[in-house]
Amino acid sequence: MRAAIIGLGAISTTHYGAIGRAGGAVAAICDVDEAKIAAFREKTGSTAAGYTDWRELLRDESLDVIHVCTPHYLHAEMVIAALQAGHHVLCEKPLCIREEDIPRVLEAERASGRHLGVCHQNRYNESNMATHALVEADPAKAGFGTVVWDRGAGYYASGAWRGRWDTEGGGVMINQALHTLDLLLWLMGQPETVQADIANRHLSGVIEVEDTASALFRFADGRAFTFYATTASAADFPVQVMVATQGGQTIVAANDTITINGKIRPSDSGEIRYGKDVWGDGHAKLITDFYTSIQESRPFAIDGREGARVVRAILAMYRSQGREEKLSV
Ligand SMILES: NC(=O)c1ccc[n+]([C@@H]2O[C@H](COP(=O)([O-])OP(=O)(O)OC[C@H]3O[C@@H](n4cnc5c(N)ncnc54)[C@H](O)[C@@H]3O)[C@@H](O)[C@H]2O)c1
Repeated sequence: MRAAIIGLGAISTTHYGAIGRAGGAVAAICDVDEAKIAAFREKTGSTAAGYTDWRELLRDESLDVIHVCTPHYLHAEMVIAALQAGHHVLCEKPLCIREEDIPRVLEAERASGRHLGVCHQNRYNESNMATHALVEADPAKAGFGTVVWDRGAGYYASGAWRGRWDTEGGGVMINQALHTLDLLLWLMGQPETVQADIANRHLSGVIEVEDTASALFRFADGRAFTFYATTASAADFPVQVMVATQGGQTIVAANDTITINGKIRPSDSGEIRYGKDVWGDGHAKLITDFYTSIQESRPFAIDGREGARVVRAILAMYRSQGREEKLSV
């Protein structure tokens, strides 16, 4: 696969490494900032063609797949244009940040006949996959997800697009906690309503968006899950996903360790691993699966519809203001 990366910031080198592990080659790179192109080359040793204009890059018909790794507000426009230019597209999360962009992206995906994938790589962590298999056999009756992290003013100063409604599209929910909410939706299905509150607890005057959110998602059949996320913590604590099934309670901590009814469950290989980071290995697994799905002409599971699902849930949380809000599908 001949790949291109648009947006050469923090996550771009993770894509570069993962593309190599998936058997692909990065043939083109793009950033509006030339210094980012130089820094990327220096860091990776890449000799890929460099562009400062992403629309010009899309005109290279030899490219198979475009990796969109830019700030959130650019995703919808870039994804649509790349699909229309005939490329497969892997978009970093979130798929988009505005409700009105969802039908436009999904229509471009359908009309192009190309693959569109969204980077919800935590679904590929062994523990999350094992929990998914568990709830397929013994469905979850209730769930709880929590993200308690530390993101201070310095983090928001690292990019002018961060911390603003029009460019980031939200705060802790649309950026950090989106992965964990996606896992709950994947494990439990499509809720009917959400009742949520958001607040800016520690960075008022620094960011416009929320640093803290809590929510109750309810399903038509009476099941529910609760969710709490904050970046106003004084330290990063392990992300946790919990489900209650007929067989008891399962807790996945830090996307890694599974505890079932208080006992740690070893992986299938018998190994017990602790504290693996949240975004390292998952990208390589997701990108390998995405490329293979293209080569084998089979659907990719985390497509436009799946990417839109968590965005719609988060936008409903933002609208809710404590009232029960219907989730659009
Ligand atoms: N999946 C994950 O776990 C994960 C982790 C980190 C970041 N991300 C996502 O990756 C994306 C990028 O995040 P980041 O932390 O690398 O951000 P960043 O600010 O470090 O990098 C963004 C880059 O895009 C470039 N850019 C801006 N406008 C552009 C344009 N018009 N054309 C080309 N390049 C342009 C910027 O110059 C910058 O180099 C975001 O969507 C973020 O949510 C995902």
